[in-house]
Amino acid sequence: MSRFEGRIAVLTGAAAGIGRSAAEKFAAEGATAVLLDIDIEAGEAAAAAITQAGGRALFLATDVTDDASVKAAIAECLARCGPPTILVNCAGGSMVEDDVVTDVDLDRVWSQTLDLNLRGTFLACRHAIPPMIAAGGGAIVNMSSGAALRGASPSHVYTAAKGAILSLTRALAGRYARDGIRVNAICSGRVYSERIVSAYGRPGENGRLDDAQDAEGRMLDYPFWVGEPADMAEIVLFLAGEGARMITGATIQADGGRSSY
Ligand SMILES: NC(=O)c1ccc[n+]([C@@H]2O[C@H](COP(=O)([O-])OP(=O)(O)OC[C@H]3O[C@@H](n4cnc5c(N)ncnc54)[C@H](O)[C@@H]3O)[C@@H](O)[C@H]2O)c1
Repeated sequence: MSRFEGRIAVLTGAAAGIGRSAAEKFAAEGATAVLLDIDIEAGEAAAAAITQAGGRALFLATDVTDDASVKAAIAECLARCGPPTILVNCAGGSMVEDDVVTDVDLDRVWSQTLDLNLRGTFLACRHAIPPMIAAGGGAIVNMSSGAALRGASPSHVYTAAKGAILSLTRALAGRYARDGIRVNAICSGRVYSERIVSAYGRPGENGRLDDAQDAEGRMLDYPFWVGEPADMAEIVLFLAGEGARMITGATIQADGGRSSY
């Protein structure tokens, strides 16, 4: 039997990048993947690709920053598929305008970054946890970032938002262990999702400074600093699966060691 046979996995930000890759992998291993994303065209395409590959998928147009939208999506998931026992919070990301604390634009960058990364994660947990408890438990995986561990500058707002996700993860893990729910966070290193490639380029391609390059554009000798969406998706599936049943409240450092040395 497949690892996630019969499970309902809700993934936010699943129209692209790490979320889409994880949705494909959950479906390939027997789960029904419920994709929540604000991008309707990309979300429908992602769900259709899963279905065409023989998996089960449902796309629900959702704005994770909007309480009513998230509540409606979880209600629709319940009505059409059943209770989610896996929740993956992938909707998130930084803005290129993010800046140091003294200079950053409060109205736009602060609000949008905190809303998308922190409020979005908070709301998805708020609405998915009650049916998960009723179903006997499950697993939540929150996407944080290596930026939360190494105090990334100049992205002070993104760093603060991703750090708060780690604290929220521990608080949820402590409270909901008694309900059979594990909650973990992944601190991802640089992953070449389409968004990242279009914003920052790939090393060596366009001469722009990247994590894997020095100031002159030479490749650095740290081969694990950068990865593909599928690399992070594998870790998501591990944390969601029974193989990780002794891991909860954890911060998984998946940044190729960048925050360690
Ligand atoms: N890619 C990286 O290098 C990297 C590094 C560290 C952490 N992360 C984190 O991993 C997660 C996934 O990153 P990615 O690069 O795969 O992202 P991505 O940009 O490829 O995908 C994010 C998805 O979220 C959706 N989204 C945006 N706003 C939304 C909203 N309000 N409601 C619902 N959906 C919304 C987008 O439409 C998109 O489909 C993010 O939380 C990101 O911060 C990524």
